[in-house]
Amino acid sequence: MAHSYGLLDGKTGVIFGALNESSLAWAIAQAAHREGARFILSNAPIARRLGTLGTLAEQTGSTIIWADATDDDDIRALFEQAKEQFGQIHFIVHAIGMGVNVRKKKPYEDLNYDWYRKTLDISAISLHRIVHHAMDTDALADGGSIVALSYIGAQRVFAKYSEMGDAKALLESIVRTWGSRLGRRGIRINAISQSPTRTTAGTGIVGFDALFAYGDSLSPLGNADAESCADYTITLLSDLTRMVTMQTLYHDGGFSSMGISEESVQDLLKALASNQDEG
Ligand SMILES: NC(=O)c1ccc[n+]([C@@H]2O[C@H](COP(=O)([O-])OP(=O)(O)OC[C@H]3O[C@@H](n4cnc5c(N)ncnc54)[C@H](O)[C@@H]3O)[C@@H](O)[C@H]2O)c1
Repeated sequence: MAHSYGLLDGKTGVIFGALNESSLAWAIAQAAHREGARFILSNAPIARRLGTLGTLAEQTGSTIIWADATDDDDIRALFEQAKEQFGQIHFIVHAIGMGVNVRKKKPYEDLNYDWYRKTLDISAISLHRIVHHAMDTDALADGGSIVALSYIGAQRVFAKYSEMGDAKALLESIVRTWGSRLGRRGIRINAISQSPTRTTAGTGIVGFDALFAYGDSLSPLGNADAESCADYTITLLSDLTRMVTMQTLYHDGGFSSMGISEESVQDLLKALASNQDEG
């Protein structure tokens, strides 16, 4: 969508989690730029080597602040710098996630607990930490908006999603619990529960292709891509949604309301028939 509605004119913020062109946060930053926002891009120091964030910073006229979302000093320093650059900011996007056991192919039945703690720290507790330091440094203005990215594996079991289901359940709970405390200042916080999307974090899940194909066939609108996720995020950062808070909002082409579709019945029948042929 090349057209700008100016939905974020005059707004400033911080966008966490753009690693490369396929990142959800990359698309969100491009859409925020298109809608008139100015922002800081942040990622873990290790992403300096792994990703291409400099290109996005150039395209959007943004500064980069390298900060580990599990490190209090880094996050506090980031918000101090954000205040120096912009005064108070209006929005925060949390698009950070990493399943350490998932990456290392450790099954749920046999988790390495140090890795599990790391997964929860990076993928969920980091949201608490980010909001805490934003409030403590008084960096976020009244009426601000915070968005975090989630997945339906927080609510229902998707076998291979494993520990990340626990991390997303915690993330969505943190959204509600912080939301109840931020509302008095008109600050909103919501989670967007996004379709499977081909990103570095997404494709790190074992069986991602099957998850993607299943979602695409079951959802009446098909899987939502990164660009449409970015557009939806913009609506939540804008004043148009000023009374929406503490929600998990499904951006999934209708997947979360489906049971079984005609298409998936046909797929199952085909699979059963070919099993019988082989038998
Ligand atoms: N891709 C999907 O299928 C999908 C679906 C639903 C939700 N999500 C969520 O969207 C968010 C963004 O992920 P993505 O799919 O764009 O993948 P991505 O790999 O592009 O983004 C994940 C980001 O987390 C960052 N990160 C990891 N550890 C960090 C740390 N310690 N400090 C700061 N940043 C750190 C990575 O550097 C990376 O930029 C994640 O929360 C993910 O769980 C993804």
